[in-house]
Amino acid sequence: MVNKPVVRVGIIGAGNVASALVGLLSDPERHEALLDAATGPIELVGVAVRDAAKRRKGIPKHLLTTDVAGLVNNDDLDILVELAGGIKPARVYIETALRHGVSVVTANKALIAECGTELAQLAHQNGADLFYEAAVGGGIPILRALRTSLAGERINRVMGIVNGTTNFILSKMTSEGSDYATALKEAQALGYAEADPSADVEGYDAAAKVQILSSLAFGTELVGDAIARQGIVGIRSVDIEIARRSGYVIKLLGVAERIGDSGISRRVHPAMIPVDHPLASVHGAMNAVFVEGVRSGPLMWLGQGAGGEATATAVLGDLLDVARNRFSGRHDIPFSVDRTLHSVAAGELESVFYISIDVLDRPGVLAAVAGIFGENGVSIQSMEQSGFGNEARLSFLTHLALTERVDATIKDLAKHKSVDSIGACLRVIDGGRS
Ligand SMILES: NC(=O)c1ccc[n+]([C@@H]2O[C@H](COP(=O)([O-])OP(=O)(O)OC[C@H]3O[C@@H](n4cnc5c(N)ncnc54)[C@H](OP(=O)(O)O)[C@@H]3O)[C@@H](O)[C@H]2O)c1
Repeated sequence: MVNKPVVRVGIIGAGNVASALVGLLSDPERHEALLDAATGPIELVGVAVRDAAKRRKGIPKHLLTTDVAGLVNNDDLDILVELAGGIKPARVYIETALRHGVSVVTANKALIAECGTELAQLAHQNGADLFYEAAVGGGIPILRALRTSLAGERINRVMGIVNGTTNFILSKMTSEGSDYATALKEAQALGYAEADPSADVEGYDAAAKVQILSSLAFGTELVGDAIARQGIVGIRSVDIEIARRSGYVIKLLGVAERIGDSGISRRVHPAMIPVDHPLASVHGAMNAVFVEGVRSGPLMWLGQGAGGEATATAVLGDLLDVARNRFSGRHDIPFSVDRTLHSVAAGELESVFYISIDVLDRPGVLAAVAGIFGENGVSIQSMEQSGFGNEARLSFLTHLALTERVDATIKDLAKHKSVDSIGACLRVIDGGRS
């Protein structure tokens, strides 16, 4: 690997991110800077796509190929940039490249969350790198910060707004009083949300990112284990309004935190956060990651969590890092896995909760509902009654309560004849704890 005259790069995909990356790589004004950063010349040898007939702006025609296997198995390839997405066949292409000693750069959060530990080991065994900065927070350089700058710090908690679609929807609901369906439609019209928005609004996308953040902050494995996940679908304008009046905003958070000496909680859920918390001012499709280190104190990274150009800058950073390694004949050692850690179930965590329920507008309902909280050992801090008739609603703020006790309360409430439906059940982040 030492003294390579040129580093050869193949890209799978020619979509939003890949075409922006090709643009950055071929910008004549940046040519010298890239040469310096990579410590040698980078040559783009091919861009693999599914559909050869599609017009590809900015990608020279002679580079396009539908022969992905041919590109991946090219003996001269040094770096594979995987920007196709999905698990299959991306995993096969990446494994093949790594087995040949080809370094890989990817933005594929789903795949890294699914089998990142195994892929990192495969890379190491074959003297290759596996970098995936763009997999979390698009253009925000948070993974490298965790991997290098904070490598010696003891991190207690990583908490982020890591999904731009849901942050856009919640921001619209907050700033314009839109209901969920209207805000979702607007997000779809502006290209922030897919036609099928479930990966975003049900928290799957954020869950993959939490797993990646946790692996770098705490050393948890990337093996595709399910983490506790709650999306934003049940949140209504009234919840946003009550939160606002109480000095909170509602955000979808991805959280990874230490619990005691060896416990780790990883979860995704909407939460009420105080308006003066740094994450409360992250609006629209922006992303932010808030890290609490023992000695560093609180730190926050903010930026565009998506978008071809922003994401491509993170991919390019990885590519230059890997190219430097190639020119100097080295590769990075994968981050270590801490097998002494155990996952703490969400039910075992304590939090203050906000719960809203639609009830029948009848005498005695409040007492019956309050009784259900009491029977489950959940103590009520405050209560607000709003609406009349079919619109009658009760909103509760609990004292600190065990999540499993709150879940049991919700189950019992849902069965009670006076309760029409359960609205939102949200953790309240206060004084730095959730
Ligand atoms: N877009 C963002 O803002 C963003 C942010 C962070 C991370 N990411 C990640 O970056 C990756 C790329 O995202 P994107 O938005 O650029 O996707 P995209 O616009 O949908 O582009 C995907 C590209 O991959 C190609 N492709 C898909 N499957 C393929 C296969 N089996 N063989 C060959 N080519 C294949 C497609 O080819 P055709 O054009 O021929 O269909 C297309 O050119 C994903 O992992 C995504 O999660 C994206």
